Amino acid sequence: MTVEGRHLPVLLEEAVAILQPRTGGRYLDATVGLGGHAEALLIESAPTGHLCGMDRDVEALALAKGRLSQFGDRIELFHGDFAMLGAIADENGWAPFDGILFDLGLSSFQLDDASRGFSFMKEGPLDMRMDRQGGGKSAAELLTRLSEREITRLLQDYGEERWARRIAARIVEERRRQPLTSTVQLARLVAGAVPRYAWPRQIHVATRAFQALRITVNDELAKLTHGLQNAVELLVAGGRICVISFHSLEDRIVKETLRGWARLKPPRVHVLTKRPIIPTEREIEANPRARSAKLRAAERC
Ligand SMILES: C[S@@+](CC[C@H](N)C(=O)[O-])C[C@H]1O[C@@H](n2cnc3c(N)ncnc32)[C@H](O)[C@@H]1O
Repeated sequence: MTVEGRHLPVLLEEAVAILQPRTGGRYLDATVGLGGHAEALLIESAPTGHLCGMDRDVEALALAKGRLSQFGDRIELFHGDFAMLGAIADENGWAPFDGILFDLGLSSFQLDDASRGFSFMKEGPLDMRMDRQGGGKSAAELLTRLSEREITRLLQDYGEERWARRIAARIVEERRRQPLTSTVQLARLVAGAVPRYAWPRQIHVATRAFQALRITVNDELAKLTHGLQNAVELLVAGGRICVISFHSLEDRIVKETLRGWARLKPPRVHVLTKRPIIPTEREIEANPRARSAKLRAAERC
């Protein structure tokens, strides 16, 4: 997922080709992360292209700030949730944009920092909040409060986990004995709940459970729906929206949202990607994190 501690932007060339950055253009990176895509957009739109970048994660934003400072006042960064994009853009006088990018999920920087609790490979607190300033509930708090049935549902719905019931039962059993507070504790518990013969070959046995919890902790699917609806209103006619997702549920939301806009009378967008653009074998080899990426895009009518 990381190469020497860096985050490699996924589908970078493809996203830039879709967004067609140009001199004087105005762009929004709604998930600026460590600024990889943002940097490419700024280079391609030199010398006068402008980019607004936002992220829920203040720590990622601080790193993006360092990386992008070379672009001076061509870049504006903002700590915020893209579900609130409309209000944030209004307040800051940002809109309209010629191109908007969403690169969903986590950056390698977040995954690699054990203290964030995203990784089942590293001992850390069971946190998983992208925005630790925002005051939302951590994964540990959720697992303490939710009923066995609710835990089963979230594992099934957001992790497509076949062994959801067994894992939920183990979680409830464990929390009666001692609080569930650490990533490795949860990963071991999941491994113990799933029969050995059913362990997936390609991924760690706890991957799906961790993913489901992360999606719930950060309310990722509802935020994506709001973010997309806000974003399309901020585009100029001919402006483009480009979304890179890493999860089938996210991709479904993106696909249906873009198609829904295209079916309106008059259509709000023209869909540019009948099928999603996916990474080449070469990109996946260089960056396994790209494996499940899908890019969809549309142009505002
Ligand atoms: C895959 S990373 C982006 C990487 C970036 N494109 C780059 O090249 O460095 C996704 C980023 O989106 C942020 N994010 C996820 N959900 C968000 C939301 N609802 N609002 C704002 N940022 C969000 C995460 O904190 C993370 O930094």
